[in-house]
Amino acid sequence: MKRVPVILYGAGGVGSALLRQIVHGRDQTASRNNCHFSVVAVTDSKTWQWAVNGLSDEQLLDIVAAKGQNKAVDPQWREAAPAEMQRPSEHGVLDAASEAELENVLVIDVTAADSMESVLKRSLNLGYSVVLANKKPLASPWERASGFFHHPRVRHESTVGGGQPIIATLRYLLDTHDLIYQIEGQMSGTLGYICQRLDAGVAFSTAVREAKANGYTEPDPRDDLGGMDAMRKLLILGRMAGWPFEENNITVESLYAPPMASLSVSEFMDAVAQLDEPMQARVAAAKANEQVLRYVAEVNEQGGAVGLKAIPAASALANLKYISFRTERYDDEPLLIGGKGAGVEMTAAGVMGDMLTLVREVY
Ligand SMILES: NC(=O)c1ccc[n+]([C@@H]2O[C@H](COP(=O)([O-])OP(=O)(O)OC[C@H]3O[C@@H](n4cnc5c(N)ncnc54)[C@H](OP(=O)(O)O)[C@@H]3O)[C@@H](O)[C@H]2O)c1
Repeated sequence: MKRVPVILYGAGGVGSALLRQIVHGRDQTASRNNCHFSVVAVTDSKTWQWAVNGLSDEQLLDIVAAKGQNKAVDPQWREAAPAEMQRPSEHGVLDAASEAELENVLVIDVTAADSMESVLKRSLNLGYSVVLANKKPLASPWERASGFFHHPRVRHESTVGGGQPIIATLRYLLDTHDLIYQIEGQMSGTLGYICQRLDAGVAFSTAVREAKANGYTEPDPRDDLGGMDAMRKLLILGRMAGWPFEENNITVESLYAPPMASLSVSEFMDAVAQLDEPMQARVAAAKANEQVLRYVAEVNEQGGAVGLKAIPAASALANLKYISFRTERYDDEPLLIGGKGAGVEMTAAGVMGDMLTLVREVY
């Protein structure tokens, strides 16, 4: 049985779901993959738990329970906790792993942190493998991000499509020498939901409030409405396709006006009703032409764009959530990958799939 050490950065929704899947899937992982994931470190933004021989399943489920109650990974942690209870820096976790002479470690980044790039690079230099659901390291300036693309020990299925095999499909097309012409789709589940509520005649501000109340948006809904998350996904797909774009090669339409960026979240939620009338006018103009508004992302070798587009109400893109690949082989009839996407369980399953792929291919 392969015993694979795992360092988990991030124990929020996705990290907790992954821990549950690791623990509850132990028997299947052993019988199907001859593998045992030995989770040696779990960290959040404040603290960590570490055990060189692997935390017990009971400890892992206790961490999930603590995070479910908004506590820290180490529930004893307090703001004024002594230094030994604070999480070491992200690099400190790697120091502990290399001092313990752990080999073939799987490093998982399910944070949404900006600070992970250097940690992931050092992990690769140590001979470890890396799995990301965090898009930010892959969407950083190309000079810094390029080393992660097509690296044999990096996988990132869950960065796009929330667990649907989007990255795997693109990888297959590229591996079999297809030529990518265009990638297109609705890449934000949150904005997809809001657009469908606009179709139903719901005011924009109501749709945003509903999405927030249902937990579909980030805590600050502007993170979704600003289009940056969809832009990062498109940048990742474009870079994989062979176009080393930077952020400024992708046009981004934000659904809120720039002055609203400086408001607090609650001020923004009050102010968002200002956007109802102009949005309603756009919905009505589209409807008059038998069209609907969708937040569409598209990229080709010229560059990319994410933004609201009026598209025929009867078209597949208006009615189904998918990402399409138009390629040399799939030119007249693009290849579509769709279905339910996002949600922490599916995203965590995408991470688990990547972990098992690395175990098969690298270990
Ligand atoms: N949720 C989804 O459906 C979905 C789908 C696709 C991709 N993703 C991506 O997956 C990632 C995780 O999403 P999520 O929904 O699980 O987010 P989340 O609930 O906000 O969890 C993020 C976790 O990362 C921890 N963290 C932040 N900075 C850290 C650092 N420097 N070192 C270690 N841990 C750190 C946070 O700590 P605290 O608990 O102390 O705050 C938290 O536990 C994000 O990048 C997201 O974009 C999510």
